[in-house]
Amino acid sequence: MVPSVLPADFSRLGEECAALADAGVDRIQWDVMDGRFVPNLTFGPDVIAACRDRTDVPFEAHLMVEAPEELAHLYVEAGCQMLIVHAESTKHLHRTLGSIRDLGAQPAVALNPSTPPESVRYVLELCDMVLVMTVNPGFGGQAYISEMEPKVATLRRWITDAGLNCDIEVDGGIGPATISGAAASGANVLVAGSALYKDPEGLAHAVTELRGQATTAGGQAG
Ligand code: DX5
Repeated sequence: MVPSVLPADFSRLGEECAALADAGVDRIQWDVMDGRFVPNLTFGPDVIAACRDRTDVPFEAHLMVEAPEELAHLYVEAGCQMLIVHAESTKHLHRTLGSIRDLGAQPAVALNPSTPPESVRYVLELCDMVLVMTVNPGFGGQAYISEMEPKVATLRRWITDAGLNCDIEVDGGIGPATISGAAASGANVLVAGSALYKDPEGLAHAVTELRGQATTAGGQAG
């Protein structure tokens, strides 16, 4: 389970990262938004760097920015082990993914809901993960788009047939009512924001419950 920190208390992000680590999450996702690729503005690299020593849990930066290749090094220097770039945000995706690997980070590619899986078919071997957005990026608390499940299944088939070691992550509207469908379609990494923070029994309970549901539905969930 990978939490999005978008619903967290921004006035104490370091403590929030430590609390997520204590809740047993596998990674922490930073939703980086530039106000251009998406109509919202969030975390610069300095904010992430300020939280880096509060936990050993790996950080992934979901770069919802135009021309991510221009900013990638700053997020690696800030302590992000994985960088996720949108296929729709960079002119030379193959080169951008390679440059992230050269920076010593894990490259991953994200697809907006309207983007077909074919757009990444020829770069899958460069990726440690593909992120299928199950909402239109830019905000938390939106409704899950179940029409993305066939796209996840197609990518899972391509990855399995090619014998690649590439995870599939889904992000957006993931919660108790939607996580099983996403996992059953082939996603093995599940991002959740509001579903984690609104659980009345707390973060650790939410992480355990959602991970259990995903594992039951899909057999392997991170
Ligand atoms: C949206 C972000 C998501 C979002 C998830 O652009 O990429 O990570 O914060 O939040 P929920 O789980 O509330 O949809």
